Amino acid sequence: MNAHRHPEGTTRVCVTGATRGIGLAIAERFLHSGARVAVNYRSARNETMSVLERLEHRYPGQVLPVKADVSSFAEVKAMFAEIKTAWGGLDVQVNNAGHAKDGYALMMSEESWRSVVDTDLSGTFSCSRQAAWLMAAAKRGTIVNIASVSALTSPIGQANYAAAKAGVIALTKTLAKELATFGIRVNAVAPGFIDTDMLDSLPQPTRDDYLKLIPQARFGRAEEIADVVQFLAGPSASYINGHCLVADGGLTA
Ligand SMILES: NC(=O)c1ccc[n+]([C@@H]2O[C@H](COP(=O)([O-])OP(=O)(O)OC[C@H]3O[C@@H](n4cnc5c(N)ncnc54)[C@H](OP(=O)(O)O)[C@@H]3O)[C@@H](O)[C@H]2O)c1
Repeated sequence: MNAHRHPEGTTRVCVTGATRGIGLAIAERFLHSGARVAVNYRSARNETMSVLERLEHRYPGQVLPVKADVSSFAEVKAMFAEIKTAWGGLDVQVNNAGHAKDGYALMMSEESWRSVVDTDLSGTFSCSRQAAWLMAAAKRGTIVNIASVSALTSPIGQANYAAAKAGVIALTKTLAKELATFGIRVNAVAPGFIDTDMLDSLPQPTRDDYLKLIPQARFGRAEEIADVVQFLAGPSASYINGHCLVADGGLTA
């Protein structure tokens, strides 16, 4: 499809946390395929605004910047109201926004626990719910949630993150069952170690240790997760529902 023509009927996608890392790769993948993308961001930092400007310049008319902290139910509700006003509906929701705040459980602050659970799990819940209301009217849509292999391996130091991401997988399955009647499929992706700012924040010795655990002997690329998301959201996955697809280079094999 010509990315510079935007007839009504092009796929309407919302990606949370879409101005860097995996979320940006997902947004760009959909934009490149001609979709209209609501690019969620949470703060108007200079780097964020320049990414939005670059996307709008490269994909004119396809980008709808939408500001919301996904941990706030009120901001999420307002964001989807904005999407409804702009587009009237939504076809694909990708719940990518997330962060980790590692620490031993016995030492973990209430703030570390709450901010990870509120963003990674509650944000996925509230965005899925608002997206589903928009999709239900048309009786079709797909939701893809970004979980993590931490949900499956429950690493030391990640009580908050592992619990939140395991919750995302459980939430995915319940929503898949509840929303099938509205023609909405819900799936998850569990990435392994992907080379983004999240991984960059780790000390080099820790990165080296992680690398030794991966049979493919390399970290994943954000674009490789975008491929999986596009597959799950698209017609090739029309009979896949309530599934969590692991993309980890063999880490958990
Ligand atoms: N990288 C990995 O190895 C890996 C592995 C497994 C799963 N994941 C998951 O993949 C997703 C993306 O991770 P990433 O590696 O791309 O991380 P990243 O580079 O740190 O980017 C995270 C994105 O989420 C946004 N975000 C965080 N909290 C938010 C909030 N409350 N509201 C709205 N946006 C928020 C960030 O916005 P700001 O720019 O404002 O901070 C940023 O755009 C996350 O859910 C993460 O848990 C990552």
